[in-house]
Amino acid sequence: MTRLFYGAAFIMFVTVFSVFLYFSIKAFSINPDTVTQAYSYPRHHIVLIPEEINNDYWRLVEKGARDAARDFGIALEYTGPKQADQEEHLKSINMAAAAKVDGILTQGLSEEQFTPLINKVVQKGIPVMTVDTDAAKSDRISYIGTDNYYAGILAGKALLADTEGEIKVGIITGKFDTNHQKLRVQGFKDAIREQNRVEIIAIEASQITRIQAAEKTYKILQEHPEINAFYGTSALDALGISEVLEYMGKSQETYVIGFDILPETLELLEAGKIEATVIQQPYEMGYKSIEAMVQVLEGKAVDSINHTETRVIRQGDLPLNRNEMIEAEVQ
Ligand code: BGC
Repeated sequence: MTRLFYGAAFIMFVTVFSVFLYFSIKAFSINPDTVTQAYSYPRHHIVLIPEEINNDYWRLVEKGARDAARDFGIALEYTGPKQADQEEHLKSINMAAAAKVDGILTQGLSEEQFTPLINKVVQKGIPVMTVDTDAAKSDRISYIGTDNYYAGILAGKALLADTEGEIKVGIITGKFDTNHQKLRVQGFKDAIREQNRVEIIAIEASQITRIQAAEKTYKILQEHPEINAFYGTSALDALGISEVLEYMGKSQETYVIGFDILPETLELLEAGKIEATVIQQPYEMGYKSIEAMVQVLEGKAVDSINHTETRVIRQGDLPLNRNEMIEAEVQ
């Protein structure tokens, strides 16, 4: 009887132990597929610092960069000023460098302020690339973005092609002291230089905000009611300009050329409230800048200047093609 009891107890023990062993092995066994996922870590840590993080234009650059970060296995940090502010921007670059990130993507907004800092960071061994706006005199490894002087030339040529007779121009520029905005204005001036019929009457800065673009347009029109054309050089300027023209009943008689293809810009173009806009490729700038940074971090050479496409579109060019739609889509 006792032997029978011990026998049964033994069989029970063996069964329970085997079941326990089976499930333990299963639970702790290593499946190579899950390991790469669970333990995979980014190849590099890259920081993208824009002029203004919540600006719709910069959200498109971010989207391109995020897609590239996913494709290349990169940890991407998107950080910077809440409202355009060069001091804040420089502080963000300093912080990224102090955190010893692997690479920094930033605008090179001005030679005076950005070049010394970019050079210092590069000397520390952290590669820096400029995106959208170049600090061409700095030691940045590469620039990825629009040829801003050429874009200004295109805007000036478009105005010449689209208008006749005496044209008095008001310019709303994003900022007076940033490289790309200066180049966009300079290109425009050079394109219209030979033509006596076109004259720039006033220029004001919007601080890249729509509200200030509207305020400055109003101010310009109060002071110079003869103005019959506007050129807006940053993404939200044409929106502010057109709002005021509409309000003052001057939309029909005033020619407007802006920058970029934010969804509202396209609506205004479609509705004939602005005549033309200079297209940039913010999504592609974001994507290509990550791609180029990965190449540099992995010892490969990259071109020092990588211009993305820019051209002027008018109402007749709508609807946009597939690539352009990606560049116009705000998430
Ligand atoms: C420029 C950006 C700028 C943005 C402001 C764009 O046209 O390329 O540098 O931050 O406008 O809305």
